[in-house]
Amino acid sequence: MGEKRPETMKRINTPELANAFIEEQVAAIKAQVGQEKVLLALSGGVDSSVVAALLIKAIGRQLVCVHVNHGLLRKGEPEQVIEVFGKQLNANLIYVDATDRFLDKLAGVSDPEKKRKIIGGEFIEVFAEEAKKQEGIKFLAQGTIYPDILESDGVKAHHNVGGLPEELNFELVEPVKFLYKDEVRVVGKQLGLPDQMVYRQPFPGPGLGVRCVGAITRDRLEAVRESDAILREEFAIAGLEGKVWQYFTVVPPFTSTGIKNGKRTDDWMVIIRAVNSIDATSATIEEVPYAVLNKIVKRIITEVKGVNRVAYDLSPKPVATIEFE
Ligand code: XMP
Repeated sequence: MGEKRPETMKRINTPELANAFIEEQVAAIKAQVGQEKVLLALSGGVDSSVVAALLIKAIGRQLVCVHVNHGLLRKGEPEQVIEVFGKQLNANLIYVDATDRFLDKLAGVSDPEKKRKIIGGEFIEVFAEEAKKQEGIKFLAQGTIYPDILESDGVKAHHNVGGLPEELNFELVEPVKFLYKDEVRVVGKQLGLPDQMVYRQPFPGPGLGVRCVGAITRDRLEAVRESDAILREEFAIAGLEGKVWQYFTVVPPFTSTGIKNGKRTDDWMVIIRAVNSIDATSATIEEVPYAVLNKIVKRIITEVKGVNRVAYDLSPKPVATIEFE
């Protein structure tokens, strides 16, 4: 920590500058790791994906990517990681479906900070177990970016696998540690990663876990995942993808009364949130056209199991935070 971006470093904002950066980092990675193997926790987020693509370019299958599915990812995310890295880039990819393990540990836990601790702690445990199965790994790659160094207790702390057992004793490979987010995206684009990966909206490490408010149950978690997929699909159709900073759905832990086929129902409510922001410290509400909202509501109440009500959250940050917990 305490490292500083070199003053001579140009802002990477063109394909040419990105190519030069890629070339320089590929050489640096080769020089650092030689013939050794490198381990990486690949979440599918922008930073770890760009690091993975850089390392694959430099050392191919000497990089061992571990994708831990904690069961709190968005619909289609693990599949995309497998498709892009496992198939298209021929990465040495280990996919661990730890859904049951995470959800069992989280059962009955409603305190948001306890939920975050369990998710972060369990993530490190699963990753360490996979690391121990690999023989002779000396290096650990991380998607640390410059804002993480500047705010060293940043929200992403558990994304980077700090807190790994000491006996693993890895040397770090952090090729994008002096880059700002926009630069990471330019580099990712030049490395050929799909736009969906490079330009995706911020997504919290604890994933849908903080959007399934209170104690997570599988039915409510599925309602969050399915409604989020509909929202993203409809925002893309309406041209809002890439325009709105962050948009997602939340399912609170209480039911309300509805009516279906002449019978009373007692089902969950989905809350839609779509906000604009510069750095997440404050946020304003996106004025989503009524027709778009209306279509999303119709789809959610007909397609998502166990939901009979949809609301749109109009609260800015402050006083509300972006996430619900
Ligand atoms: P809030 O809810 O505090 O969120 O207004 C600000 C930004 O941070 C993201 N966020 C998190 N990211 N781990 C993360 O990696 C977390 O525990 C976490 N909590 C919130 C949130 O999505 C928003 O972009």
